[in-house]
Amino acid sequence: MTMQIELRILRYDPERDTRPHEESYQVETGPMDRVLDLLHQVKYEQDGTLTFRRSCGHGVCGSDAMLINGRNRLACKIRVDQLRARRITVAPLPGLPVVKDLVVDMEGFFAKFRSVRPYLISDRPLPERERRQTQHDRARFDDTTKCILCAACTTSCPSFWAQPSYVGPAAIVNAHRFIFDDRDEAAEERLEILADRDGVWRCRTIFNCTDACPRGIHITQAILEVSSAIVESRA
Ligand code: FES
Repeated sequence: MTMQIELRILRYDPERDTRPHEESYQVETGPMDRVLDLLHQVKYEQDGTLTFRRSCGHGVCGSDAMLINGRNRLACKIRVDQLRARRITVAPLPGLPVVKDLVVDMEGFFAKFRSVRPYLISDRPLPERERRQTQHDRARFDDTTKCILCAACTTSCPSFWAQPSYVGPAAIVNAHRFIFDDRDEAAEERLEILADRDGVWRCRTIFNCTDACPRGIHITQAILEVSSAIVESRA
Protein backbone atom coordinates (compact mmCIF):
# COMPACT_ATOMS: atom_id res chain seq x y z
CA MET A 1 0.00 0.00 0.00
CA THR A 2 1.37 3.42 -0.91
CA MET A 3 1.04 6.56 1.18
CA GLN A 4 1.44 10.27 0.49
CA ILE A 5 4.17 11.95 2.58
CA GLU A 6 5.30 15.55 2.83
CA LEU A 7 9.06 15.77 2.67
CA ARG A 8 10.46 19.09 3.89
CA ILE A 9 14.08 19.58 2.93
CA LEU A 10 16.39 22.36 4.05
CA ARG A 11 17.81 23.68 0.80
CA TYR A 12 20.79 25.95 0.27
CA ASP A 13 22.59 26.86 -2.93
CA PRO A 14 25.47 29.23 -2.18
CA GLU A 15 25.30 30.60 -5.74
CA ARG A 16 21.63 31.56 -5.40
CA ASP A 17 20.55 31.80 -1.77
CA THR A 18 21.61 34.13 1.02
CA ARG A 19 20.46 31.63 3.65
CA PRO A 20 19.03 28.10 3.89
CA HIS A 21 15.28 27.71 3.44
CA GLU A 22 12.84 24.81 3.61
CA GLU A 23 11.16 23.43 0.52
CA SER A 24 8.25 21.04 0.60
CA TYR A 25 7.68 18.04 -1.70
CA GLN A 26 4.80 15.60 -1.91
CA VAL A 27 6.09 12.07 -2.42
CA GLU A 28 4.56 8.64 -2.67
CA THR A 29 6.04 6.05 -0.38
CA GLY A 30 5.79 2.25 -0.36
CA PRO A 31 5.95 -0.05 2.68
CA MET A 32 9.72 -0.70 2.53
CA ASP A 33 10.86 2.74 1.33
CA ARG A 34 13.69 4.44 3.16
CA VAL A 35 14.25 8.18 3.40
CA LEU A 36 16.97 7.79 0.76
CA ASP A 37 14.34 6.44 -1.66
CA LEU A 38 12.25 9.57 -1.07
CA LEU A 39 15.24 11.82 -1.71
CA HIS A 40 15.89 9.95 -4.97
CA GLN A 41 12.24 10.35 -5.90
CA VAL A 42 12.49 14.13 -5.44
CA LYS A 43 15.78 14.34 -7.32
CA TYR A 44 14.74 12.14 -10.26
CA GLU A 45 11.14 13.26 -10.62
CA GLN A 46 10.74 16.75 -9.16
CA ASP A 47 13.97 18.70 -8.81
CA GLY A 48 17.25 17.47 -10.25
CA THR A 49 19.19 20.21 -8.47
CA LEU A 50 18.64 18.60 -5.05
CA THR A 51 22.11 17.68 -3.81
CA PHE A 52 23.04 14.97 -1.32
CA ARG A 53 25.70 12.31 -0.87
CA ARG A 54 25.08 8.58 -1.01
CA SER A 55 26.99 5.64 -2.34
CA CYS A 56 26.45 2.11 -1.01
CA GLY A 57 22.77 2.53 -0.11
CA HIS A 58 23.17 -0.10 2.63
CA GLY A 59 24.64 1.53 5.75
CA VAL A 60 28.26 0.74 4.92
CA CYS A 61 29.92 3.81 3.37
CA GLY A 62 28.62 6.40 5.85
CA SER A 63 28.06 9.07 3.21
CA ASP A 64 24.35 9.86 3.72
CA ALA A 65 24.17 10.85 7.39
CA MET A 66 21.76 13.76 7.82
CA LEU A 67 19.33 15.26 10.31
CA ILE A 68 16.02 13.41 9.83
CA ASN A 69 13.07 14.43 11.96
CA GLY A 70 15.47 16.03 14.44
CA ARG A 71 17.90 13.12 14.77
CA ASN A 72 21.12 12.28 12.98
CA ARG A 73 20.60 9.10 10.96
CA LEU A 74 21.61 7.41 7.73
CA ALA A 75 18.99 8.11 5.06
CA CYS A 76 19.59 4.64 3.61
CA LYS A 77 18.94 2.87 6.92
CA ILE A 78 15.84 4.58 8.25
CA ARG A 79 12.58 3.32 6.79
CA VAL A 80 9.76 5.78 6.38
CA ASP A 81 7.37 3.63 8.44
CA GLN A 82 9.82 3.70 11.38
CA LEU A 83 9.38 7.47 11.58
CA ARG A 84 5.61 7.12 12.05
CA ALA A 85 4.92 10.53 10.54
CA ARG A 86 3.18 11.97 7.48
CA ARG A 87 5.68 14.81 7.40
CA ILE A 88 9.44 14.19 7.35
CA THR A 89 12.00 16.94 7.74
CA VAL A 90 15.50 16.53 6.36
CA ALA A 91 18.43 18.88 6.98
CA PRO A 92 22.22 18.67 6.72
CA LEU A 93 24.28 17.42 9.68
CA PRO A 94 24.43 20.17 12.32
CA GLY A 95 27.65 21.98 13.16
CA LEU A 96 29.48 21.51 9.84
CA PRO A 97 29.64 24.09 7.03
CA VAL A 98 27.03 23.44 4.34
CA VAL A 99 28.40 23.12 0.83
CA LYS A 100 25.02 22.71 -0.89
CA ASP A 101 21.64 21.41 0.28
CA LEU A 102 22.39 18.25 2.34
CA VAL A 103 26.11 18.14 1.56
CA VAL A 104 28.40 19.35 4.35
CA ASP A 105 32.12 20.06 4.29
CA MET A 106 33.69 17.04 6.04
CA GLU A 107 37.30 18.22 5.84
CA GLY A 108 37.47 19.50 9.44
CA PHE A 109 35.91 16.23 10.63
CA PHE A 110 38.48 14.14 8.74
CA ALA A 111 41.35 16.35 9.93
CA LYS A 112 40.38 15.47 13.53
CA PHE A 113 40.17 11.80 12.58
CA ARG A 114 43.68 11.97 11.10
CA SER A 115 45.00 13.82 14.18
CA VAL A 116 44.73 10.68 16.35
CA ARG A 117 46.88 8.62 13.93
CA PRO A 118 44.16 6.05 13.16
CA TYR A 119 46.35 3.30 11.77
CA LEU A 120 48.56 0.54 13.17
CA ILE A 121 51.95 1.80 14.33
CA SER A 122 54.63 -0.70 15.25
CA ASP A 123 58.43 -0.87 15.06
CA ARG A 124 58.47 -4.61 15.66
CA PRO A 125 60.03 -6.58 12.79
CA LEU A 126 57.54 -7.64 10.16
CA PRO A 127 56.39 -11.20 10.75
CA GLU A 128 56.61 -13.69 7.91
CA ARG A 129 52.87 -13.79 7.66
CA GLU A 130 50.20 -11.73 9.49
CA ARG A 131 50.56 -10.11 12.93
CA ARG A 132 48.72 -12.68 14.99
CA GLN A 133 46.33 -11.86 17.80
CA THR A 134 44.26 -13.95 20.18
CA GLN A 135 40.48 -13.82 19.95
CA HIS A 136 40.42 -12.35 23.44
CA ASP A 137 42.77 -9.48 22.49
CA ARG A 138 40.84 -8.84 19.28
CA ALA A 139 37.58 -8.65 21.22
CA ARG A 140 39.00 -5.83 23.39
CA PHE A 141 38.44 -3.24 20.65
CA ASP A 142 35.88 -5.00 18.46
CA ASP A 143 33.13 -2.44 19.06
CA THR A 144 35.14 0.52 17.81
CA THR A 145 36.17 -1.24 14.59
CA LYS A 146 32.58 -0.76 13.40
CA CYS A 147 32.86 2.99 12.79
CA ILE A 148 31.99 4.07 9.22
CA LEU A 149 32.98 7.74 9.71
CA CYS A 150 29.52 9.06 8.91
CA ALA A 151 29.93 11.91 11.47
CA ALA A 152 26.47 11.31 12.97
CA CYS A 153 28.02 11.11 16.45
CA THR A 154 30.31 14.14 16.38
CA THR A 155 27.66 16.39 14.84
CA SER A 156 25.05 15.38 17.42
CA CYS A 157 27.32 16.33 20.32
CA PRO A 158 26.48 19.59 22.17
CA SER A 159 30.11 19.85 23.34
CA PHE A 160 31.16 19.91 19.67
CA TRP A 161 28.50 22.50 18.82
CA ALA A 162 29.73 24.69 21.70
CA GLN A 163 33.41 24.15 20.94
CA PRO A 164 34.06 23.14 17.32
CA SER A 165 37.75 22.59 18.09
CA TYR A 166 36.75 19.55 20.24
CA VAL A 167 38.23 16.49 18.55
CA GLY A 168 34.82 14.81 18.89
CA PRO A 169 33.46 11.30 19.48
CA ALA A 170 34.34 9.83 16.06
CA ALA A 171 38.05 10.64 16.37
CA ILE A 172 38.12 9.22 19.92
CA VAL A 173 36.37 6.04 18.76
CA ASN A 174 39.02 5.57 16.08
CA ALA A 175 41.82 6.26 18.56
CA HIS A 176 40.25 3.67 20.91
CA ARG A 177 40.36 1.11 18.12
CA PHE A 178 44.20 1.30 18.09
CA ILE A 179 44.93 2.25 21.73
CA PHE A 180 43.53 -1.11 22.86
CA ASP A 181 45.03 -3.14 20.02
CA ASP A 182 47.94 -5.13 21.52
CA ARG A 183 49.76 -5.18 18.15
CA ASP A 184 50.04 -1.38 18.16
CA GLU A 185 52.82 0.55 19.93
CA ALA A 186 51.61 4.15 19.78
CA ALA A 187 48.93 4.11 22.50
CA GLU A 188 50.89 6.54 24.70
CA GLU A 189 51.21 9.01 21.85
CA ARG A 190 47.46 8.89 21.14
CA LEU A 191 46.62 9.25 24.82
CA GLU A 192 48.83 12.34 24.90
CA ILE A 193 46.98 13.81 21.90
CA LEU A 194 43.61 13.13 23.54
CA ALA A 195 44.68 14.55 26.91
CA ASP A 196 44.73 17.96 25.20
CA ARG A 197 42.13 20.56 26.19
CA ASP A 198 40.22 19.74 22.99
CA GLY A 199 40.45 16.02 23.70
CA VAL A 200 38.40 13.62 25.81
CA TRP A 201 37.82 16.02 28.73
CA ARG A 202 35.31 17.97 26.64
CA CYS A 203 32.96 14.97 26.77
CA ARG A 204 30.09 15.62 29.17
CA THR A 205 28.65 12.07 28.91
CA ILE A 206 25.50 13.37 27.25
CA PHE A 207 25.12 10.11 25.24
CA ASN A 208 23.87 11.88 22.09
CA CYS A 209 26.74 10.24 20.21
CA THR A 210 25.75 6.76 21.34
CA ASP A 211 22.11 7.40 20.42
CA ALA A 212 23.08 8.71 16.97
CA CYS A 213 25.50 5.96 15.96
CA PRO A 214 23.95 3.89 13.13
CA ARG A 215 26.34 1.03 13.95
CA GLY A 216 25.31 0.79 17.59
CA ILE A 217 28.81 1.51 18.89
CA HIS A 218 28.94 2.21 22.64
CA ILE A 219 30.67 5.51 21.99
CA THR A 220 30.35 7.13 25.42
CA GLN A 221 31.75 3.93 26.95
CA ALA A 222 34.71 4.06 24.55
CA ILE A 223 35.38 7.70 25.46
CA LEU A 224 35.33 6.81 29.16
CA GLU A 225 37.76 3.94 28.56
CA VAL A 226 40.17 6.30 26.81
CA SER A 227 39.80 8.89 29.64
CA SER A 228 40.56 6.17 32.21
CA ALA A 229 43.60 5.04 30.20
CA ILE A 230 44.91 8.62 30.24
CA VAL A 231 44.48 8.80 34.02
CA GLU A 232 46.17 5.41 34.49
CA SER A 233 49.08 6.34 32.21
CA ARG A 234 49.76 9.33 34.44
CA ALA A 235 49.37 7.61 37.80
S1 FES B 1 24.61 5.32 1.29
FE1 FES B 1 26.29 4.30 2.25
S2 FES B 1 25.78 4.41 4.35
FE2 FES B 1 24.03 5.20 3.39
